Amino acid sequence: MTDRQPLVAANWKMNGARASVAALLGGLRQGLLENGAEVLVCPAFIHIPLAAELLAGSSIGLGAQTLAEYGNGAYTGEISAAMLNDYGCRYVIIGHSERRHILGETDATVARKFRQAQEHGLQVILCLGERLEEREAGITEQVLSEQLDAVINVAGTDCFHGAVIAYEPVWAIGTGRTATPEQAQAAHSFIRLQVARHDDCVAAALRIVYGGSVKADNAAALFAMADVDGGLIGGASLNIDDFLAICRVAR
Ligand code: PGA
Repeated sequence: MTDRQPLVAANWKMNGARASVAALLGGLRQGLLENGAEVLVCPAFIHIPLAAELLAGSSIGLGAQTLAEYGNGAYTGEISAAMLNDYGCRYVIIGHSERRHILGETDATVARKFRQAQEHGLQVILCLGERLEEREAGITEQVLSEQLDAVINVAGTDCFHGAVIAYEPVWAIGTGRTATPEQAQAAHSFIRLQVARHDDCVAAALRIVYGGSVKADNAAALFAMADVDGGLIGGASLNIDDFLAICRVAR
């Protein structure tokens, strides 16, 4: 076993309104007992100021779901790393499959965003994962190493120091079809080995969380695997009882 602190991160995606954000955060502050796991919420950009205000003084972390690949300047509609810092975000999710596959982010975009975040001291949660047809074609490991290499080539071999990787098989996201604990473990240990090829110590300390239809009733089995260091939770993070139950099992 390792001493990696488990992380449970809520990815609220493009959901919520001021009232529901306040209700979720109120429930979380009230229901969350210190249990050794780090807990983090990633609201939509527009809810970040409200979330920062409501989380003041708590141990619950705040993150964004993406950021601009550029620094401040003439990029209409974008949100920069500096702006996220200014509002107290410590984390940012990068390369989520919805951004890759619906919004057209390439490996190169993901890598530039990664570098931008790190240059501004944000902790990255880098999402990786294969699509169903890639798993069925037996090229899961190839896809994962290509996604990793794209970032390493731009951000450097020590870029995962202090970062988090989220293994999120695309076929498991929002589908109710979770990877089995064994499938998750196999992918996580492969990712850790790839990072270890560059730096053993960084790989050993790297938190690799699983995402894709994590629910209160399957979280314990997933989190029990040796290389699964917590979860990135979508749908179930919008229900306070479900999310608290998942946080509780991530000790
Ligand atoms: P899900 O989403 O838990 O709803 O499958 C996970 C994610 O997209 O991060």
